[in-house]
Amino acid sequence: MDDQDSIIADVARCPGTSWEDLVVADTNAAPSFLKEDNYHYAGCEPIAASRYTNPAFHAAEVGKMWPNVWQFAAREEELPEPGDNVVYDNAGRSFLLVRQEDGSVRAFHNVCLHRGRKLRLESGFASEFQCPFHGFSWNWDGSLKNIPCRWDFPHLSDEKMQLPEAEVGRWGGYIFVRDNPGGPSLEEYLAPIPEHFRRWKHEECTTAVWVAKVVHANWKVAMEAFMESYHALVTHPQLMPFTGDANSAYNNWGDNVNANYVPFGVMSPHVRPEGRTQQWIVDEFVQYNGRSADNYDPEKDSFNVQVPGDQTARAALGKSLRDSSKRAFGRDYSDVSDVEVLDALVYNVFPNFAPWGGFMPNIVYRWRPWPDQDHCLMEVRVLVRVKPGEAMPRSVPMHLLAEDEKWTAAPELGVLGAVFEQDMENMAYVQDGLKVSKNGLVELGNYQEIRIRQFHQTLDKYLAR
Ligand code: FES
Ligand SMILES: [Fe+2]
Repeated sequence: MDDQDSIIADVARCPGTSWEDLVVADTNAAPSFLKEDNYHYAGCEPIAASRYTNPAFHAAEVGKMWPNVWQFAAREEELPEPGDNVVYDNAGRSFLLVRQEDGSVRAFHNVCLHRGRKLRLESGFASEFQCPFHGFSWNWDGSLKNIPCRWDFPHLSDEKMQLPEAEVGRWGGYIFVRDNPGGPSLEEYLAPIPEHFRRWKHEECTTAVWVAKVVHANWKVAMEAFMESYHALVTHPQLMPFTGDANSAYNNWGDNVNANYVPFGVMSPHVRPEGRTQQWIVDEFVQYNGRSADNYDPEKDSFNVQVPGDQTARAALGKSLRDSSKRAFGRDYSDVSDVEVLDALVYNVFPNFAPWGGFMPNIVYRWRPWPDQDHCLMEVRVLVRVKPGEAMPRSVPMHLLAEDEKWTAAPELGVLGAVFEQDMENMAYVQDGLKVSKNGLVELGNYQEIRIRQFHQTLDKYLAR
């Protein structure tokens, strides 16, 4: 055992039932990668609060990090037909993603090459891209179409007027852009996600829910609130009856990918178990987790998931969710593990893309500075599986909440809205607190906050270039 291994072995874990114990007891065998411990200790130094508040630090992210990473820019179902396009703005750049005749997608810088007006403000279909100022226009492939009074611009060749382009990568129904060419391929960058998600096939899903809101906090503050389940005990106490918050598994692979696997259908180790039954866990889950809704019985005003005497809540919920998923999505889930229909398998890809794994409707998060270090746009999508043989529906449009609207004003989020609203209670106060912190430091737990540490170490690698 070398020094690093001995440190890893020494990092404490929550006593009691572990994630591994729960996965091994699963009704059907879970994929082996869900049983592996891929936690890698990465130090315990504090990080500087100024990383979230300093305009110079924000400028360094904009200059050195964002142009060099693969950014999740759109889902395929947002632009299914030739000429469909998506405007993706982030970190001092605006991209225009355009579906081509051959089905490929190209990403152009969304700026008129005459006097710099933004070409398009909204996503949609366009037969050409005509600048609303003087009418310069471009084709779907970024080639120049027309310049009014062309006689006045003998110095502008078609070649010179080709719209500058960013790299595009596609995986799992997601479309990514990278501003500066070079570096790892998208597949290399995402590893091991393409391998893990091979079973879960996000390319067979469509965006059924998409809600966004401007949050008064640095984009990393908001994102990091969704990278650990450590906060659930105090921020989301209603989840404790059915969430193994402190039993969650944390994994980090290389520089870009990490995951938090949160078991549901098991009591938190913080709950006193005396007098609590497995049926109580199930009843709390169906009420506050927001899934199993199709098992709701309006006559009894209750959810019809019963736990047979010898079964665990996890096994009963696993069966119920396999059955309801089959009804909803027309696929056979009989061999699927409880973990994959029940638990929160929350992955993050550096810097700001977080897709949930598993077979249930998948939450997907994205956070972007909006537009400065003190504000961000947080987006929540829910992807649902399209039934076999059915055409892929277009994405719903983004529902942007107004500044004074709560997440609960988006009924399409169901009970998630109330959970996000609890998270939002912390955001502005974290941002404010970081600015007035006496020691200027942020401390992290060795295990439950490893994903945040990995993120900052990767960010440092970009900033040091
Ligand atoms: S700025 Fe676009 S045509 Fe003049
Ligand atoms: Fe939360």
